[in-house]
Amino acid sequence: MAVQHFLAASLLLLSCLAPTSHAVTFSSLPRTLVVSASPKQRQVVRAGVDIIMLTWSLNASLPVGTDSGYKTVKLKLCYAPISQKDRAWRKTVDDLDKDKTCQHKIASQTYNSSSSTFTWTLQKDVPTGTYFVRAYVHNSADEAVAYGQTADAQKATNLFDVQAISGRHVSLDIASVCFSTFSVVSLFGFFFLEKRKSKSSQQK
Ligand SMILES: *[C@@H]1O[C@H](CO)[C@@H](O)[C@H](O)[C@H]1NC(C)=O
Ligand SMILES: *[C@@H]1O[C@H](CO)[C@@H](O)[C@H](O)[C@H]1NC(C)=O
Repeated sequence: MAVQHFLAASLLLLSCLAPTSHAVTFSSLPRTLVVSASPKQRQVVRAGVDIIMLTWSLNASLPVGTDSGYKTVKLKLCYAPISQKDRAWRKTVDDLDKDKTCQHKIASQTYNSSSSTFTWTLQKDVPTGTYFVRAYVHNSADEAVAYGQTADAQKATNLFDVQAISGRHVSLDIASVCFSTFSVVSLFGFFFLEKRKSKSSQQK
């Protein structure tokens, strides 16, 4: 009896855990968006400082209505193969739920059939590396249905380099040293002023 209950409970649990829809693979998505980013090939942009401008639109040579189910465009910063080498945690997997190519979200925008742009200040936490930008198109059920990217299919062209903030800790340290120096100096300053004040009031 107890065993039967256990089995029934396990089955129930398993059916709850089982994915309700099958995984979407990258290779199943048609490339319908034309995406471009402002940095030139292998240009170096600085994380936390520089701005990149992204532009995307439906490939004009596709039949009218191709985009009828398009709802949102999710822009992501993706590692070029050069920056994935020997790094399993950035690996490309065809199953989009497991893919680690595009880990940095840039923006999510409502799809617009006319050309769209987005200006992005590179986030401070983007590591040094070589990147491209990919735009995933999602439908109203929030499933990926198409994509576009700045790089070619081999992810070899239109790549740019991000330079992470070098010595972030150093600059923080400098800031805190300046701050403490300032507090010490102002403390002494006040002390000195108070002394002078009390001296001058004594003299009166
Ligand atoms: C637009 O689509 C056509 C037909 O599928 C394709 O040949 C062409 O390379 C695409 N253009 C861009 C810029 O992706
Ligand atoms: C699409 O973009 C055009 C031009 O920028 C704008 O006028 C229009 O309201 C936008 N449509 C949607 C659905 O956001």
